Parts: sequence; structure tokens; C-alpha cells
Amino acid sequence: MQPSTIPTTDEQDSPLDKFIIEGGVRLNGEIRASGAKNAALPILAASLLTDEPLRLHNVPQLEDVVTASVLLSQMGVRITQPDEGTLEADARGVHTCVAPYDMVKKMRASILVLGPLLARFGEADVSLPGGCAIGARPVDLHLRGLEAMGATITVDEGYIKARASRLQGAHVLFDKVTVTGTENLMMAATLAQGSTVLENAAREPEVVDLAMCLNGMGARIEGAGTGTITIHGTSRLHGTEYRVLPDRIETGTYLVAGAITRGRVRVLDTRPDLLEAVLTKLEASGAQVQLGPDWIDLDMLGRRPRAVNIHTTPYPGFPTDMQAQFVALNAIAEGTGAVTENVFENRFMHVQEMQRMGADIQLEGNTAIVRGRDGLNGAPVMATDLRASAGLVLAALAASGVTEVLRVYHIHRGYEHIEKKLTALGARIRSASESPPTPDRSNQNVPAARSGA
Ligand code: EPZ
Repeated sequence: MQPSTIPTTDEQDSPLDKFIIEGGVRLNGEIRASGAKNAALPILAASLLTDEPLRLHNVPQLEDVVTASVLLSQMGVRITQPDEGTLEADARGVHTCVAPYDMVKKMRASILVLGPLLARFGEADVSLPGGCAIGARPVDLHLRGLEAMGATITVDEGYIKARASRLQGAHVLFDKVTVTGTENLMMAATLAQGSTVLENAAREPEVVDLAMCLNGMGARIEGAGTGTITIHGTSRLHGTEYRVLPDRIETGTYLVAGAITRGRVRVLDTRPDLLEAVLTKLEASGAQVQLGPDWIDLDMLGRRPRAVNIHTTPYPGFPTDMQAQFVALNAIAEGTGAVTENVFENRFMHVQEMQRMGADIQLEGNTAIVRGRDGLNGAPVMATDLRASAGLVLAALAASGVTEVLRVYHIHRGYEHIEKKLTALGARIRSASESPPTPDRSNQNVPAARSGA
């Protein structure tokens, strides 16, 4: 077995785990969007469905992509990185169908290997992901759907143990819209006997991107992007070459960075058509937005944003992954904005950290009432999850003084080269190590402290 070269991220190697941000700078400039994390992860898992190589372009250099690559390599997938942004996965030599706890606890999206392993090898032992900062995050809908396709599933010692001689096409109605649940079943159904219909399926663009890659591998999927997806099973899939779509949440985050600092930001290499709900809210806040085929230009014209009301829902509604960013925007806006989180049960971890910066936010059930202030103050704050940390960075950019955002490994999971991109826009941001400096032992002749002193 040739040693596969696991892609690494420059952030992964650095022990630097906090950002120091000097706020109050009006951002101005342009950056390029990276490939979408939430498309790259299911598409990487899809490599398990064939014994031919899958060559992917525009893959973001992120912690989560590294984690997915390590997980697949441990199974025997040969992962190589011919150049930055290109990844090749060859699952010819898969020798184990186990996703161990130590990997799954690092990244819940590891659950995405379940469907492909079951479909191609008839077995999968995948650690239960467990909860995370934003909620319990159960996977019951994934498991019920696979059982409907004939899988035998037990949960034992923290592991999902799934077996199926050959999956059968089925009609699956999801109780709730689930993005990775839709993706897991769509991948499993590509090699099932007969056709599968997924009702109340997720319509996210990343689901469509996965379906387009799978069809490029010889799958027969119709209706991706609508609430009803039909997959006609086939006996095998072949390799292909595919370019991952741009990251709409990264794009939206940098647009909010422009709005919150009253500046002007242009994002290139992106897909304006994937951000309609977000762009509508940015215009409602007073931003001037211009669109091109693959670029978005936001100009705040130096004005303070107006508060906006937000209700998160599955796509094409307002994305939950942009909720924290808009809480930050409302925190310095004119007026009061209500932000209601309808997708996850605990996705306001950023609120108490923003309150430390002077934000006036009251939580009422799943709604944050944000009374805009004309300024926030820099303070040490703690990142808790990927998008909360993005919200804290945005608040820090707008605050007066210096903010330290701790545990920024959360943000490196989903924002490629964020420090470079923000610096390119004029932000004053640098990384630093949180660990205390090693004690200075140079003056060894210091008398020992007297006991009992
Ligand atoms: C995906 O997570 C994304 N992750 C999340 O992005 C995103 O926030 C989320 O979809 C919603 O858009 C990836 O694509 C890798 P869900 P996923 O299943 O699939 C409940 C980020 O920041 N549910 O759509 O895990 C669940 O608890 C991440 O990039 C069940 O009850 O989310 C939640 O309340 C964070 N049972 C709701 O459905 C299940 O079996 C939506 O969850 C599955 C889900």
C-alpha cells in the first residue's frame, strides 16, 4: 500500500489558538470564495462508492477536510493531493468499514461514510457522533431511512452497526428536513436494487452538488434541489473528476464583515444565486449590493446598518449557518432585530460572548432580541462552535479596541485562510498562542519562597 499523502492545512500545524483583532477598521477590498466545506465532505465520502479514483477540484484547505481525509485513509482509501485545492481519493483498497469514535468525535460529518460503506460493502460500524455545542444532533432519521432500505441496524457500545446484503429501493419520508440525512440516503440508494424516493428531502445547494458528482460517477439521480429526490439504483459507479461549488456561507460571512464595518467588500469566484435570502436581508440592513455572474459587491457607503429580523429555516430560507453573523450585525445596528433559530435547539452560544463585548441581547426561547448599540467594546471571548466563532470575529471587527477570540481551532474547521482574507480586506488581525509563556528560569538564584509565608 503506497503511503497516501494526507493534505494538511497551515493552520493545523500552528499551535496558535487565538486571534487578536483590533476593531474599528472599515474593511475595503476583494477576496475569492473557497470551495464549500459542506459539499466537499459528502463528496469525499462518495469516493467509497467506487473502486475507481475520484478527482476533486476547489477543495478547501480546512481542518474538517483533513479529518475526513484521515478517516478515509484509515479505512484504506488512498488520498493524494496533487496540488492545493485538488484531492484524489481512490477507494480500491478499502480494508475496514469502521469509523472509530476518536475520529467521529472530531467531526460529526463522519456519519456520511455510513451510507456509502453499507451500499458498497454491505457493512458499516460507525461511532455515534454524540452531541455538540449547538444541539443533540441525533441521526435517527439517517438510521430509519437505511432500515427502510433493508439494512439491519443495531446500536451497541456507542457504535452504529449496520448490515445489508443488498440495499433495496424504498420510499422514505423524512420527519424533518435533514441535510446529511438526505445525503447519506442518496449515496446509499445509488447502489441499491431498484429505485428510492426521498420525500421532504433537503434542498441545500450542497445536496445538489453531491447529486451532480454522483451522476458524473454513473448514478441516476433526479430532483436534487427539490423536496422529492428519486434515485434509480445501479450495480456499480465509476470514477470521475468534479469541481466543488463555492462556499455560500463563507461568502455571506465576508459580506457581513463589510456591512458590520460600514465598508465595501467584493467576493469573487462565488455563486450569487445561492445567497438570495442572505442578500435580501443585507439590502434590508441598508447595504448596496451588486451582482455579477460569479461575484457579489457589497457597499455599506459608510452607513450604520439598520436592524433586521431573521427566521432560520432549511434552504432556500435564511440559513442557520448565517444566524450568528446576523446577531453580530444587529448588535451594532440602528433599532432592534429579532433573530429566531428554528433549526437547532441551542445555537446561541455566541450570545453570552457578545454580551461581554457590550451587546444588548435578550434570549426569549429560540429568539434573540438584539437592541442595536452604536458600538461594542473589545474583550476576551471564547469560540464554541464554527459559526459562533465567525460571529465573534465579526463583532470584534466592529468593536472599538482589541478583542481576543480564544479557541479559534473552531473557525479553522470551516474558513480557509481566514486571517489572510481578512487582512487582505484591511482588518487588523493576528494569531497568537494562548498557552502561558514558559517560566523564565534564567535567574535561578532566586531564594525559594519560605514555607508558610
Ligand atoms: C448540516 O448539518 C450542515 N453540516 C450544518 O453545517 C448545517 O448547520 C445543517 O446541515 C443545517 O443546514 C454539514 O453539511 C456537514 P441536519 P446536519 O441533519 O446535516 C435534526 C456548519 O456550520 N435531525 O440538517 O447535521 C437536527 O437535530 C454545520 O457548517 C434529527 O432530529 O443538520 C437539527 O435540529 C453546522 N434527526 C435538524 O434536524 C436526524 O437524524 C437539521 O439537522 C438528523 C437531523
